Amino acid sequence: MATLTDVPVRVRGVSRAFDGRTVLDGIDLDIADAQIVALLGRSGTGKSTLLRILAGLDDGYTGTVIRPDRVAVAFQEPRLLPWKRVADNVGLGLSTRDARERVGAALSEVGLSGHARAWPLTLSGGEAQRASLARALVRDPALLLLDEPFAALDALTRLSMHQLVLDLWQRHRPAVLLVTHDVDEAVALADRIVVLDAGRITVDQTIDLPRPRERGGARFAEHRRGLLAALGVEQA
Ligand SMILES: Nc1ncnc2c1ncn2[C@@H]1O[C@H](COP(=O)(O)OP(=O)(O)OP(=O)(O)O)[C@@H](O)[C@H]1O
Ligand SMILES: [Mg+2]
Repeated sequence: MATLTDVPVRVRGVSRAFDGRTVLDGIDLDIADAQIVALLGRSGTGKSTLLRILAGLDDGYTGTVIRPDRVAVAFQEPRLLPWKRVADNVGLGLSTRDARERVGAALSEVGLSGHARAWPLTLSGGEAQRASLARALVRDPALLLLDEPFAALDALTRLSMHQLVLDLWQRHRPAVLLVTHDVDEAVALADRIVVLDAGRITVDQTIDLPRPRERGGARFAEHRRGLLAALGVEQA
Protein backbone atom coordinates (compact mmCIF):
# COMPACT_ATOMS: atom_id res chain seq x y z
CA MET A 1 0.00 0.00 0.00
CA ALA A 2 2.65 2.52 1.05
CA THR A 3 4.98 4.22 -1.39
CA LEU A 4 7.64 6.79 -0.67
CA THR A 5 6.25 10.21 0.07
CA ASP A 6 7.46 13.32 1.84
CA VAL A 7 4.56 13.29 4.32
CA PRO A 8 3.62 10.46 6.69
CA VAL A 9 -0.06 10.54 5.73
CA ARG A 10 -1.47 11.08 2.27
CA VAL A 11 -5.15 10.49 1.58
CA ARG A 12 -6.30 10.97 -2.00
CA GLY A 13 -9.83 10.70 -3.30
CA VAL A 14 -10.95 8.37 -0.56
CA SER A 15 -14.60 7.38 -0.60
CA ARG A 16 -16.46 4.96 1.61
CA ALA A 17 -20.06 3.83 1.34
CA PHE A 18 -22.11 1.57 3.59
CA ASP A 19 -25.02 -0.26 2.01
CA GLY A 20 -25.01 2.11 -0.94
CA ARG A 21 -24.92 5.22 1.25
CA THR A 22 -21.87 7.40 0.71
CA VAL A 23 -20.24 8.50 3.96
CA LEU A 24 -16.87 9.73 2.69
CA ASP A 25 -16.93 11.33 -0.72
CA GLY A 26 -13.49 11.89 -2.23
CA ILE A 27 -11.44 12.94 0.79
CA ASP A 28 -7.99 14.49 0.24
CA LEU A 29 -5.87 14.98 3.34
CA ASP A 30 -2.15 15.18 3.99
CA ILE A 31 -0.67 15.21 7.46
CA ALA A 32 2.88 16.52 7.80
CA ASP A 33 5.57 15.13 10.07
CA ALA A 34 4.81 15.84 13.72
CA GLN A 35 1.70 17.80 12.82
CA ILE A 36 -1.38 17.65 15.04
CA VAL A 37 -4.56 17.73 12.95
CA ALA A 38 -7.92 17.90 14.70
CA LEU A 39 -10.91 16.49 12.85
CA LEU A 40 -14.24 18.06 13.72
CA GLY A 41 -17.70 17.40 12.36
CA ARG A 42 -21.22 16.66 13.44
CA SER A 43 -22.14 13.19 14.61
CA GLY A 44 -22.34 10.65 11.82
CA THR A 45 -20.27 12.64 9.30
CA GLY A 46 -17.67 9.89 8.98
CA LYS A 47 -14.87 10.97 11.32
CA SER A 48 -14.41 7.54 12.87
CA THR A 49 -14.78 5.97 9.45
CA LEU A 50 -11.82 8.00 8.18
CA LEU A 51 -9.81 7.24 11.31
CA ARG A 52 -10.49 3.52 10.99
CA ILE A 53 -9.31 3.61 7.38
CA LEU A 54 -6.07 5.33 8.49
CA ALA A 55 -5.69 2.76 11.26
CA GLY A 56 -5.87 -0.02 8.68
CA LEU A 57 -9.05 -1.37 10.30
CA ASP A 58 -11.24 -0.89 7.22
CA ASP A 59 -10.23 -1.69 3.67
CA GLY A 60 -13.65 -1.25 2.07
CA TYR A 61 -12.80 2.19 0.67
CA THR A 62 -11.82 3.42 -2.77
CA GLY A 63 -8.96 5.87 -3.36
CA THR A 64 -5.41 5.99 -2.11
CA VAL A 65 -4.12 5.95 1.46
CA ILE A 66 -0.45 6.20 2.31
CA ARG A 67 0.34 5.85 5.98
CA PRO A 68 3.36 4.91 8.07
CA ASP A 69 3.98 1.34 9.24
CA ARG A 70 3.86 2.28 12.89
CA VAL A 71 0.34 3.50 13.60
CA ALA A 72 -1.32 3.46 17.02
CA VAL A 73 -4.91 4.21 17.99
CA ALA A 74 -6.67 5.26 21.18
CA PHE A 75 -10.46 5.28 21.30
CA GLN A 76 -13.08 6.96 23.47
CA GLU A 77 -13.31 3.83 25.59
CA PRO A 78 -9.88 2.66 26.77
CA ARG A 79 -10.59 -0.91 25.54
CA LEU A 80 -8.36 -2.60 28.12
CA LEU A 81 -8.67 -6.35 28.54
CA PRO A 82 -10.08 -6.80 32.07
CA TRP A 83 -8.33 -10.13 32.62
CA LYS A 84 -4.87 -8.70 31.98
CA ARG A 85 -2.98 -6.43 34.33
CA VAL A 86 -2.29 -2.85 33.23
CA ALA A 87 1.32 -3.54 32.20
CA ASP A 88 0.24 -6.60 30.20
CA ASN A 89 -2.43 -4.55 28.45
CA VAL A 90 0.13 -1.90 27.54
CA GLY A 91 2.58 -4.49 26.23
CA LEU A 92 -0.01 -6.57 24.41
CA GLY A 93 1.38 -7.93 21.17
CA LEU A 94 4.77 -6.31 21.71
CA SER A 95 7.44 -8.83 20.84
CA THR A 96 10.68 -6.85 21.05
CA ARG A 97 13.31 -8.02 23.54
CA ASP A 98 13.11 -4.78 25.44
CA ALA A 99 9.31 -4.97 25.75
CA ARG A 100 9.36 -4.89 29.56
CA GLU A 101 11.54 -1.79 29.66
CA ARG A 102 9.42 -0.07 27.06
CA VAL A 103 6.21 -0.82 28.93
CA GLY A 104 7.79 0.48 32.13
CA ALA A 105 8.94 3.67 30.40
CA ALA A 106 5.52 4.26 28.79
CA LEU A 107 3.70 3.73 32.09
CA SER A 108 6.08 6.14 33.76
CA GLU A 109 5.52 8.75 31.06
CA VAL A 110 1.76 8.71 31.62
CA GLY A 111 2.17 8.68 35.41
CA LEU A 112 0.96 5.12 35.96
CA SER A 113 4.10 3.40 37.25
CA GLY A 114 2.35 2.60 40.50
CA HIS A 115 -0.48 0.84 38.68
CA ALA A 116 1.55 -1.54 36.51
CA ARG A 117 0.19 -4.61 38.30
CA ALA A 118 -3.33 -3.26 38.83
CA TRP A 119 -6.39 -4.73 37.13
CA PRO A 120 -8.05 -2.40 34.60
CA LEU A 121 -11.37 -2.40 36.43
CA THR A 122 -9.72 -0.81 39.47
CA LEU A 123 -8.59 2.24 37.45
CA SER A 124 -10.44 5.56 37.31
CA GLY A 125 -11.64 6.75 33.89
CA GLY A 126 -8.66 9.09 33.56
CA GLU A 127 -6.18 6.40 34.60
CA ALA A 128 -7.66 3.92 32.15
CA GLN A 129 -7.31 6.47 29.38
CA ARG A 130 -3.69 7.07 30.43
CA ALA A 131 -3.11 3.32 30.15
CA SER A 132 -4.63 3.43 26.69
CA LEU A 133 -2.22 6.25 25.75
CA ALA A 134 0.70 4.24 27.15
CA ARG A 135 -0.37 1.29 25.02
CA ALA A 136 -0.31 3.55 21.95
CA LEU A 137 2.99 5.15 22.92
CA VAL A 138 4.86 1.91 23.56
CA ARG A 139 4.60 1.15 19.84
CA ASP A 140 6.56 4.32 19.07
CA PRO A 141 4.02 5.36 16.44
CA ALA A 142 4.83 7.65 13.52
CA LEU A 143 1.09 8.29 13.37
CA LEU A 144 -1.09 8.53 16.46
CA LEU A 145 -4.83 8.29 15.88
CA LEU A 146 -7.08 9.52 18.69
CA ASP A 147 -10.85 9.05 18.38
CA GLU A 148 -12.46 11.29 21.00
CA PRO A 149 -10.11 9.92 23.65
CA PHE A 150 -11.17 12.43 26.31
CA ALA A 151 -14.88 12.72 25.62
CA ALA A 152 -15.95 10.57 28.56
CA LEU A 153 -13.74 12.36 31.11
CA ASP A 154 -14.70 15.18 33.46
CA ALA A 155 -13.53 18.68 32.55
CA LEU A 156 -10.54 18.81 34.93
CA THR A 157 -9.25 15.37 33.98
CA ARG A 158 -9.67 16.32 30.33
CA LEU A 159 -7.49 19.41 30.80
CA SER A 160 -4.71 17.37 32.41
CA MET A 161 -4.99 14.81 29.58
CA HIS A 162 -4.56 17.63 27.04
CA GLN A 163 -1.34 18.62 28.74
CA LEU A 164 -0.19 15.00 28.85
CA VAL A 165 -0.84 14.53 25.14
CA LEU A 166 1.08 17.70 24.33
CA ASP A 167 3.99 16.55 26.53
CA LEU A 168 4.05 13.13 24.86
CA TRP A 169 3.79 14.68 21.42
CA GLN A 170 6.64 17.08 22.16
CA ARG A 171 8.84 14.19 23.28
CA HIS A 172 7.99 11.69 20.54
CA ARG A 173 6.85 13.92 17.66
CA PRO A 174 4.35 11.62 15.93
CA ALA A 175 1.90 12.98 13.40
CA VAL A 176 -1.48 13.07 15.18
CA LEU A 177 -5.06 12.90 13.96
CA LEU A 178 -7.38 13.83 16.80
CA VAL A 179 -11.11 13.32 16.30
CA THR A 180 -13.09 15.49 18.68
CA HIS A 181 -16.45 17.19 19.18
CA ASP A 182 -14.85 19.79 21.40
CA VAL A 183 -13.93 22.96 19.51
CA ASP A 184 -11.90 24.30 22.46
CA GLU A 185 -9.94 21.06 22.62
CA ALA A 186 -9.22 21.31 18.90
CA VAL A 187 -8.03 24.93 19.11
CA ALA A 188 -5.99 24.21 22.25
CA LEU A 189 -4.13 21.24 20.78
CA ALA A 190 -4.04 21.31 16.99
CA ASP A 191 -1.70 22.85 14.42
CA ARG A 192 -4.50 22.51 11.94
CA ILE A 193 -8.23 21.85 12.08
CA VAL A 194 -10.31 20.20 9.39
CA VAL A 195 -14.08 19.94 9.39
CA LEU A 196 -15.90 17.07 7.77
CA ASP A 197 -19.40 17.67 6.45
CA ALA A 198 -21.52 15.60 4.09
CA GLY A 199 -18.57 13.40 3.19
CA ARG A 200 -16.19 16.22 2.36
CA ILE A 201 -13.65 18.44 4.07
CA THR A 202 -15.28 21.85 4.19
CA VAL A 203 -12.78 23.70 6.41
CA ASP A 204 -9.01 23.34 6.56
CA GLN A 205 -7.61 25.93 8.91
CA THR A 206 -4.14 26.46 10.34
CA ILE A 207 -3.97 27.36 14.04
CA ASP A 208 -0.74 29.30 14.36
CA LEU A 209 -1.09 30.22 18.03
CA PRO A 210 2.09 29.72 20.07
CA ARG A 211 2.10 27.04 22.77
CA PRO A 212 1.22 26.97 25.61
CA ARG A 213 -2.07 28.48 24.44
CA GLU A 214 -4.15 30.96 26.34
CA ARG A 215 -7.72 29.73 26.17
CA GLY A 216 -8.96 33.15 27.18
CA GLY A 217 -7.09 35.00 24.42
CA ALA A 218 -8.75 37.01 21.63
CA ARG A 219 -7.29 34.95 18.79
CA PHE A 220 -8.32 31.73 20.49
CA ALA A 221 -11.87 33.09 20.66
CA GLU A 222 -11.71 34.12 17.03
CA HIS A 223 -10.79 30.59 15.93
CA ARG A 224 -13.50 29.14 18.14
CA ARG A 225 -16.14 31.46 16.67
CA GLY A 226 -15.19 30.63 13.10
CA LEU A 227 -15.25 26.90 13.75
CA LEU A 228 -18.56 26.97 15.60
CA ALA A 229 -20.05 28.84 12.66
CA ALA A 230 -18.64 26.23 10.26
CA LEU A 231 -20.24 23.53 12.41
CA GLY A 232 -23.57 25.34 12.26
CA VAL A 233 -23.58 26.30 15.92
CA GLU A 234 -24.83 29.83 16.58
CA GLN A 235 -23.16 31.69 19.41
CA ALA A 236 -24.86 34.27 21.61
N1 LIG B 1 -19.56 -0.75 9.67
C1 LIG B 1 -20.57 0.04 9.33
N2 LIG B 1 -21.67 -0.45 8.74
C2 LIG B 1 -22.69 0.37 8.37
N3 LIG B 1 -22.69 1.71 8.56
C3 LIG B 1 -21.63 2.23 9.15
C4 LIG B 1 -20.51 1.45 9.58
N4 LIG B 1 -19.58 2.28 10.12
C5 LIG B 1 -20.10 3.52 10.06
N5 LIG B 1 -21.32 3.50 9.47
C6 LIG B 1 -22.16 4.68 9.22
O1 LIG B 1 -21.37 5.69 8.66
C7 LIG B 1 -21.75 6.98 9.16
C8 LIG B 1 -20.54 7.66 9.75
O2 LIG B 1 -20.16 6.96 10.93
P1 LIG B 1 -18.93 7.42 11.80
O3 LIG B 1 -18.86 6.50 12.95
O4 LIG B 1 -17.74 7.54 10.94
O5 LIG B 1 -19.39 8.89 12.25
P2 LIG B 1 -18.68 9.90 13.24
O6 LIG B 1 -18.45 11.17 12.48
O7 LIG B 1 -17.50 9.27 13.87
O8 LIG B 1 -19.83 10.16 14.31
P3 LIG B 1 -19.71 10.44 15.89
O9 LIG B 1 -19.31 11.86 16.02
O10 LIG B 1 -21.10 10.21 16.39
O11 LIG B 1 -18.73 9.48 16.47
C9 LIG B 1 -22.87 6.71 10.17
O12 LIG B 1 -24.09 6.97 9.53
C10 LIG B 1 -22.71 5.25 10.50
O13 LIG B 1 -23.96 4.67 10.79
MG1 LIG C 1 -17.02 8.68 15.80
